[in-house]
Amino acid sequence: MTRRARGDHRFRLVHVAINRLEFRFSFTLHCDSSLPGSARDSRAPFGDSPNALLDGCLRRVAANCTRVACAPQSTEPRGHRFHSFDELTIAHSWKRENATPAVQLDRSEKIYVAGHRGLLGGALVRLLRARGFERTIARSRSELDLGNAAAVCAFFKSERPAVVLLAAAKVGGIKANSDAPVEFLLENLRIQNNVISAAHEYGARKLVFLGSSCIYPKFAPQPIPERALLTGPLEPTNEAYAIAKIAGIKLCQSYARQYGENFISVMPTNLYGPGENLDPHTSHVLGALLRKAHEAKVSGAGEMVVWGTGEPRREFLHVDDAADAVLSLLENYHSPEIINVGCGEDITVHALARLICDVVGFNGELKFDRTKPDGTPRKLLDITKLRQLGWSPKIGLREGIACTYESLLAQSALQTMQ
Ligand SMILES: NC(=O)c1ccc[n+]([C@@H]2O[C@H](COP(=O)([O-])OP(=O)(O)OC[C@H]3O[C@@H](n4cnc5c(N)ncnc54)[C@H](OP(=O)(O)O)[C@@H]3O)[C@@H](O)[C@H]2O)c1
Repeated sequence: MTRRARGDHRFRLVHVAINRLEFRFSFTLHCDSSLPGSARDSRAPFGDSPNALLDGCLRRVAANCTRVACAPQSTEPRGHRFHSFDELTIAHSWKRENATPAVQLDRSEKIYVAGHRGLLGGALVRLLRARGFERTIARSRSELDLGNAAAVCAFFKSERPAVVLLAAAKVGGIKANSDAPVEFLLENLRIQNNVISAAHEYGARKLVFLGSSCIYPKFAPQPIPERALLTGPLEPTNEAYAIAKIAGIKLCQSYARQYGENFISVMPTNLYGPGENLDPHTSHVLGALLRKAHEAKVSGAGEMVVWGTGEPRREFLHVDDAADAVLSLLENYHSPEIINVGCGEDITVHALARLICDVVGFNGELKFDRTKPDGTPRKLLDITKLRQLGWSPKIGLREGIACTYESLLAQSALQTMQ
């Protein structure tokens, strides 16, 4: 015979995600002392408090759930401990065999783009808005310092974004990375730890962590498959940055394993495009060459200096293509395993410099400064996994560099250097 410990308690499940489909419904919880975990059974595996009872029951009832959040309805007895709870969140292991292959993004959902003033963050916001996502939210660094854990928690608590695109990071080229490894390690760890843990704490249903191709070993097989991660020593010039990014990947994977979170890690190749960083101290190779070629043309110089031997091979992806790939993965990729994002082709730094000079209209000589570091000899990502999901790049390198140059001229980003 069923004995009721404290009577039936009716709960309204505010949000249940089963196989990442979301439902709302009510149910009645019978405090049945014949079940382990009932309010009367102090030896119960889930403890004897009503909260532990609810937790235990939901664990068994919703074994396929990725996340359960519930709130008591008014029928609950007065003075009950549940009154102090706005929401109780119970995370369950994500059962991959039950996973659905795709989740359509809801245009009414809140999507937080961290780092929206940056190269990739800016492209993500432009693309989301162009596709009708009106509830894209963003904060500048002066409004929200992502290195400040308390501020990040307060922001997530009040905004509760459903989706988080983590494109904020301390990013720089070879020189910046070699000069300030402490800042590259510490700032990136702080930003990603704060954002990823707050996304979990405040119920984001999906997070995309932006890593980098620097995470792979210096002498990884080419093109670099995702499985090359942690198989050899890193390129020393950006080791601190790479270690921080690897920690971010492992944090997302740990949240997926321990709490069933749908937090994915995407590894883009070298990006370029409108908003390209032209700062001589922090820019990447393409931005640095664009600025030098423009300055050489405007000053009428006979030669342009390129760092290193010009022999390393690099891959470049236009940032609008990268943003398109990230949104595609947001909807179609749900594995904690990392995934590469690139164009599948590489070019020597020498050939890149020639192409840039051609686009800019500088006809002088190229001089290679061999006292400067080359970095990794070759870095081409294997994008087989990405292609299998049906994605491929659309913007060719010459076309992309030409558009980037035009946009930088239009923004007066280069005019000021004349
Ligand atoms: N660019 C590439 O070639 C490339 C390649 C592979 C991977 N990625 C990855 O893609 C992501 C975006 O890169 P990106 O090139 O777009 O970088 P970016 O242009 O340097 O933008 C980074 C953004 O992060 C923001 N940020 C940095 N620290 C912050 C803090 N403490 N609080 C708040 N905001 C902060 C910056 O804000 P401010 O505007 O205030 O500085 C900036 O808007 C990074 O994770 C990077 O590792 C980039």
